[in-house]
Amino acid sequence: MEYLKIIGNKEISGEVTISGAKNAALPLIASTILAKNEINIGNMPNVVDINTFLKLIGKLGGTFEKDENQVKINALSIDKTTATYDIVKTMRASILVLGPLLSRFGHCEVSLPGGCAIGQRPVDLHLKALEQMGAIIEIKHGYIQATAPEGLKGAKIVFDKVTVGGTENILMAAALANGETTIINAAKEPEIEQLCDVLVDAGVKIEGIGTSKLIIQGTNKELLEFKDFDIIPDRIEAGTYMCAAAITNKKVKINKVIPLHLEAVTAKLEEMNFEVIQDETSLTVCPTDEIKPVNIITTEYPGFPTDMQAQFMALATQANGTSTIDERLFENRFMHVSELLRLGADIHLNGNTATINGQAGTLNGTDVMATDLRASSALVLAALVAKGETNIHRIYHLDRGYENLEGKLTQIGADVKRFTE
Ligand code: UD1
Repeated sequence: MEYLKIIGNKEISGEVTISGAKNAALPLIASTILAKNEINIGNMPNVVDINTFLKLIGKLGGTFEKDENQVKINALSIDKTTATYDIVKTMRASILVLGPLLSRFGHCEVSLPGGCAIGQRPVDLHLKALEQMGAIIEIKHGYIQATAPEGLKGAKIVFDKVTVGGTENILMAAALANGETTIINAAKEPEIEQLCDVLVDAGVKIEGIGTSKLIIQGTNKELLEFKDFDIIPDRIEAGTYMCAAAITNKKVKINKVIPLHLEAVTAKLEEMNFEVIQDETSLTVCPTDEIKPVNIITTEYPGFPTDMQAQFMALATQANGTSTIDERLFENRFMHVSELLRLGADIHLNGNTATINGQAGTLNGTDVMATDLRASSALVLAALVAKGETNIHRIYHLDRGYENLEGKLTQIGADVKRFTE
């Protein structure tokens, strides 16, 4: 297994360029199942989760060619409809093939995703919505077995909770359904907006894009003619590098971003007393005399993202005073706390709330273990300001979602090296 060795307190400065958004790319690759043509997708992040999803498309019978950040997909040749356990267990987002496979073929089987490090993560809302569209769903032998012998029908779906993956699955199912589907309480994340835009460019009529009420006119099983497109920038990767600038209290310019997608993150950095300079496609975080504590509640977009919670916790260890972080989306997303404690942080957990007593310069390097994708990036950030050497083990979590992490950190002056143990 590989690990990262980081020597803390190096001079950080310069510029970082952000890759395409993994969480936009995954549903967009799934959406190619609805296409009758070959599609070129640009700005594809070069990360493990994307390779896993492409492998899934290949296993279903589709073809793809990948060249750096460019991927050509032809899903017309798909002739199998089972997403097997071996793939789904490595990546929960495989559930995103459920909607498009069912709407195109009228049946499919997807291994039921289990829980994961950050909580139970059920998919009941995806299944309930598909049933409302006429699907018959059974769970057998650990698989979701879905059929819709007469095809899916448009329906009015009211999500009990805002779900990103659920909204994406139903959008794709609705695109080929018979009639109009209305999704109420839809997720509004930028990744959903791009999925809508791509489907609209492929000829699907969608009203309410960017709002919590989406109205989709289905094509009644007619496959779509997609246009080529580029993946939007990864707002979570960008936010992580903004935190790298902030935690080291140095100036770093983050290029190729959509600042609007980072408003909540920028606002919290400003509350912590950092100046953030914004232009059309970049954000520059500037150092401050005093890092102030902050109170954060995670919520759906456009609120503060749960995927940035761990990184801000690392940052709060360097603030002058007590911060709180309230995690409202996932019940177990504090796995990084015990590892931050090993680095010398002063953090107390009470239910869903973490209280962080910050003070600059208190972290000391040691061995820590990555537990999930964003928790791992919090450890990397902490290591940038820990005294001495920090070894971060199990970094396959980081490789799932951060393209060229060592390269980008090295470029801004960090001392980060990868070793095999
Ligand atoms: C997506 C993101 C993930 C992010 C999360 C929340 C991808 C690939 N992943 O995950 O990085 O942290 O959004 O912004 O885009 N829920 C149910 N039943 C369901 C579905 C969800 O109870 O059927 C609950 C979940 O357990 C969670 C909440 O709803 O508590 C939000 O989950 P959801 O938005 O669905 O997250 P994902 O799409 O899995």
